[in-house]
Amino acid sequence: MKQEEGNQTAPVAFILLDFNSDDVPILLFTLFLPIYLATMAGNILIIILVILDQHLHTPMYFFLGNLSCLETCYSSTVMPRMLVSFLTGDRTISINGCFAQLYFFGLLATTECYFLAVMSYDRYLAICKPLHYAILMNGRICFLLIAGSWISGSLPINVMIFLVSHLSFCEANKINHFFCDFTPMIRLSCNDTKVAEMTAFIFSTIGTLPPLLITMASYVCIIKSILRIPSTTGKQKAFSTCSSHLTVVACFYGSLMIVYVLPNKSYLSELKKVFSLFYTLLTPLVNPLVYSLRNKEVKEAIKNTLFKMIHRIH
Ligand SMILES: *[C@@H]1O[C@H](CO)[C@@H](O)[C@H](O)[C@H]1NC(C)=O
Repeated sequence: MKQEEGNQTAPVAFILLDFNSDDVPILLFTLFLPIYLATMAGNILIIILVILDQHLHTPMYFFLGNLSCLETCYSSTVMPRMLVSFLTGDRTISINGCFAQLYFFGLLATTECYFLAVMSYDRYLAICKPLHYAILMNGRICFLLIAGSWISGSLPINVMIFLVSHLSFCEANKINHFFCDFTPMIRLSCNDTKVAEMTAFIFSTIGTLPPLLITMASYVCIIKSILRIPSTTGKQKAFSTCSSHLTVVACFYGSLMIVYVLPNKSYLSELKKVFSLFYTLLTPLVNPLVYSLRNKEVKEAIKNTLFKMIHRIH
């Protein structure tokens, strides 16, 4: 970060103002700790199953396993620090810590958008082009799609970090948010932030709009082909899976858009804080449930793995 010129003193740490938690820190702690633990447990279970169970060595489950890896890291960028601050009442975060949080959060959130797009494209191929699925989604393409998601996810955040690190921060050090995110950080700067805000807007649009369009296009095709299924029970079953995916994806993108695309007005900041909870807490928690734990294959895999483990112990 650029050092201050003149007699202004740069802050040595930022203070994250989370949820006016002065009165109820323990309540918030007991609310968020189980959410974090359940998120970690669900996602780690899926990673273990995908690695151990031969039946789950298919592109769909590779994507899921990779999504779960990403989500354990993603919720760990925000939750542990917040939980500790509820417990200790210490809301400060070092400047480097804040930049690290901004970087990893931005990287993982954007990559998650691309992962969701890749997963919906995979379902589109499986449902709408079943005869060509094996050719169109082989191991190499699977790997390329995952690598591509990481690369696309890292581009916007690198530009943003570059911009934010060239801003100078003066006396103001209270970030009105529960983690270091760019819009609340940009607002603290004592430079003219028009360019940074404009770029933040453009890059958060680049990070979310293409994967959103891919996801929507895939689901439109999927729903069209579901409607062509003749049997009602088949239709209902396909529809229920599809609609639970759609609900999660819609909540994720909807809350991202409300937070990053709506104008940066101070009267919206409390609303944005609440909506930030959707994509930081809720998405990593419900994704493993919605995408996998309801599947028959995953239920079988859980049974088999448990059986093997018990067998080994005896
Ligand atoms: C992630 O994807 C790669 C490549 O497709 C796969 O080999 C690997 O097993 C996946 N990882 C997990 C944890 O599922």
